[in-house]
Amino acid sequence: MAIFKKKKEYTIDDIILPEHIGIIMDGNGRWAKKRGLPRSAGHSAGANNFRKIIRYCSDIGIKYLTMYAFSTENWKRPKDEVNSLMKLFKQYLEEALRDFKDDTIVLKFIGDTTAFSDDIQALMKDAVEGSKDRDGMVLNLAMNYGGRSELVMAAKNIANKVKRGEILPEDIDEKMISDNIYTAGQPDPDLIIRPSGEYRTSNFLLWQSAYSEYVIMDKLWPDFDFNDMNYALIEYAKRNRRFGGV
Ligand code: IPE
Ligand code: IPE
Ligand code: MG
Repeated sequence: MAIFKKKKEYTIDDIILPEHIGIIMDGNGRWAKKRGLPRSAGHSAGANNFRKIIRYCSDIGIKYLTMYAFSTENWKRPKDEVNSLMKLFKQYLEEALRDFKDDTIVLKFIGDTTAFSDDIQALMKDAVEGSKDRDGMVLNLAMNYGGRSELVMAAKNIANKVKRGEILPEDIDEKMISDNIYTAGQPDPDLIIRPSGEYRTSNFLLWQSAYSEYVIMDKLWPDFDFNDMNYALIEYAKRNRRFGGV
């Protein structure tokens, strides 16, 4: 007689698709170091993987995908490294604009994009404008994004509304904060995946992730593939989301 009830084996058939997934694309530098390559080679491999994973998420029916590409703190890195990242952003945006006719993905940027060079900002604007009427997955690219600076921005917006007499301080509620951050109108992320094995948020979606399920994985971002994505989805299916209830 079995004393312990056998744990349910979860498989790909148990997947309940999250509506919104966030991914912290981490580990490019370590990936390069392991191969004796410069960090920029890791970013290049990471950018290629980004292209594959966004396609996969769109194909399996994810509605919202938020990819953390560059944080408000990443400007601290050596100039060379920042420059190589800017070059990759530019390449990706140019390519996205070229492939526009056949694509269904709606591209958005979250973060303070005014910090980028004029040519990158112009490409971002064209990409947003050119994809806004599509009906596919919404891809939020987090660029110069920080959860704290996002909340500072929301506080300033709301304070200005009070100052102009449009609202009273007592009107401020959680919905108003949600409506004044970059992801306004979108559902909160159900699942956040962090490759590279670090157990921290690194300032990603601080407000939005209050009840997100985190899956931390040891794989470095350039090695993170479809099987890893499926693993994260199966992990998510196992979670019992209570939202503070019972
Ligand atoms: C993530 O990889 C890419 C960015 C933060 C832009 P890292 O460059 O942080 O890689 P590790 O963490 O040093 O391995
Ligand atoms: C988080 O990774 C930012 C991105 C992946 C864009 P970092 O490598 O910057 O985070 P820390 O420094 O390990 O916390
Ligand atoms: Mg890192």
